[in-house]
Amino acid sequence: MPRYRNSLNIDSKSNDNQVSRRSFLALLGVAAGLGVAQLAGGALLGFLYPNALKTPPSVFSLGRPEEVLAKEGKLFIQKYKVFVEVKSGKLRCQTAVCTHLGCTVNAVETGYACPCHGSTYDLVGDNVSGPAPRPLVFFQAYKGASGEILVDKSRQIHEASEAWYVPVA
Ligand code: FES
Repeated sequence: MPRYRNSLNIDSKSNDNQVSRRSFLALLGVAAGLGVAQLAGGALLGFLYPNALKTPPSVFSLGRPEEVLAKEGKLFIQKYKVFVEVKSGKLRCQTAVCTHLGCTVNAVETGYACPCHGSTYDLVGDNVSGPAPRPLVFFQAYKGASGEILVDKSRQIHEASEAWYVPVA
C-alpha cells in the first residue's frame, strides 16, 4: 500500500519540507502543460486577429480632403519628414530626406537646400548641386476607405508630374 494517496504524493500531515522527486516531476509536468496551453491560446488569437487588418507602418493620413486641399501652398510635416504641396485643388507629397546622407532639407525660394553638406534641389526636387546623388522622390497619395487622404511612403513616384493626387468628385 503506497504511503501517499494524493496525485502529487504530498503528505499533508508531514512537516518535512523536502519535495520528492516524483512530486517535483509532477509539478514540472503541470507547468509544461500550462505553457503549451498558453502557446496554443496565443496562436489561436493571432489567427482570429490577423495582421492584414492593420494599417501598414508606411501609410499615414493627411486628413479629410476638404480640410487638406483648402490649404494652398507647401507644408512641411515634421513627423513624417515630408512636404505636402497643395495647388489648385490637387496635392502631392514629397520626401524631405536628403538623398546624400539623410538630413532633412529646407524649402527655399529656388527649391530645397540641405543644411548638412550643401546639396540643393530645384522646385520639383531634382538634385542640382552638392553631393546628393538623386532627386527627392514623391510618395503615392490616395483616398482611403475612411475617406481621408492617405500617403504610402513605400510607393515612390519619380516623375513630379505623375505625383499629383486629384480628388474624384
Ligand atoms: S545629407 Fe544632405 S548634403 Fe549631405
